[in-house]
Amino acid sequence: MLIPRQETEELVNEIILDNKNPGMDVIDIGSGSGCIGVTLGLELSMARITALEVDGPALDVTLKNAQRYQLEIECLLEDVLQLERLPSQYDIMVSNPPYVLEHEQSKMKPNVLDHEPHKALFVPDGDPLLYYNKILSLARKHLKPKGKLYFEINEKFGNEMIRLCDEHQCSYVRLMQDLNRKDRMIMAMFD
Ligand SMILES: C[S@@+](CC[C@H](N)C(=O)[O-])C[C@H]1O[C@@H](n2cnc3c(N)ncnc32)[C@H](O)[C@@H]1O
Repeated sequence: MLIPRQETEELVNEIILDNKNPGMDVIDIGSGSGCIGVTLGLELSMARITALEVDGPALDVTLKNAQRYQLEIECLLEDVLQLERLPSQYDIMVSNPPYVLEHEQSKMKPNVLDHEPHKALFVPDGDPLLYYNKILSLARKHLKPKGKLYFEINEKFGNEMIRLCDEHQCSYVRLMQDLNRKDRMIMAMFD
């Protein structure tokens, strides 16, 4: 997705407030414009940022936005759904993956539908949490001790997301609301 949203700004703000240690390793999965990874690179002291994205042109936008702020960023052109491992261990893993249900397409505004690649937005109605499930499996292997996983979520799936985190044996899960009091963000840990 190349148009950053207000909910995403709230997620990034939450991460900045929650993480004050310098030199953290951070991965942004599905980086799109790079709005999450680049902002964290600028706001978290001495953080090392990796951006992972399946779409080449979108990853170019991540890189361009990083360069615009003289930020060094590692860019990985990968399909997260096909990965068994990530290249490193992270203090923070964050993702705003596709989460709009296919049947919700008809309710979306033309400015979004006409200008965003559909694979950046939509998930099959029958498997709405597929990205979260995959990223939770990777996080279990690739979060450092006390590492934190952050997701932006579809407001419909707060409870399902808590259940999914429990199934993945997270030791701590926090569901957060946006300014409109909708369930929009999750933070999870494994120890
Ligand atoms: C909802 S957009 C979020 C973009 C950006 N992080 C933001 O918050 O505005 C989801 C992003 O995930 C990427 N994506 C979709 N499927 C992916 C996959 N299988 N592996 C990696 N990235 C993927 C899309 O290309 C898109 O850039």
